[in-house]
Amino acid sequence: MPLTTDDELENSPVVANSLMNRERRLRSYDRELGIDIVNVLGAARTRPARWLDLCCGTANALSEAAALLGDDVEIVGVDLVGFFACPPNPPRLHLVTASVTAWRPGTRFDLITCVHGLHYVGDKLGLLARIGDWLTDDGLFVANGRIRRTGRASITLPYRYLGADDQAGPNYTGQPAVHSHYARA
Ligand SMILES: C[S@@+](CC[C@H](N)C(=O)[O-])C[C@H]1O[C@@H](n2cnc3c(N)ncnc32)[C@H](O)[C@@H]1O
Repeated sequence: MPLTTDDELENSPVVANSLMNRERRLRSYDRELGIDIVNVLGAARTRPARWLDLCCGTANALSEAAALLGDDVEIVGVDLVGFFACPPNPPRLHLVTASVTAWRPGTRFDLITCVHGLHYVGDKLGLLARIGDWLTDDGLFVANGRIRRTGRASITLPYRYLGADDQAGPNYTGQPAVHSHYARA
């Protein structure tokens, strides 16, 4: 089966799909992730607490948190499509138009989230491994689908990414998603 490269994937109608829900608000993020984001950030040891949201969509949840927490947080949202719906950025909210496969942060985070974003990423395992190194020592990573990690780690997985299949059809969300193919390294 011919597999899709990252460049092809990011231009694929499955990833650039206008039907996907990009507009979740903070309460919806909490429900999807099973955490209370404001509490997690409030309990972080560092000030400002840092939250990174990958595949952030319109960034509604991020701008709500920025408004609630003010100078106590620094929030970074990354999305392939710059459809950000926020009012002019509060100083501690940074929205980046980039692919999470290529983007790298310049700092570590107390909280990293990804809500319904991994479905569309080609090398999911590569991204999950990198995220481990972007956490603070007691930072938390949560993605929906029960993916969770606490604490920074250098992660090497014994798999080599081969490419993606954007014709895999709908996953449990009902939306077409991307399958990722690996071989043992
Ligand atoms: C279903 S939406 C979820 C958006 C947001 N997290 C929410 O729950 O409202 C998935 C998002 O992933 C983004 N996305 C897909 N592939 C991406 C990639 N390689 N890098 C960054 N964002 C990506 C899409 O542009 C889209 O905004």
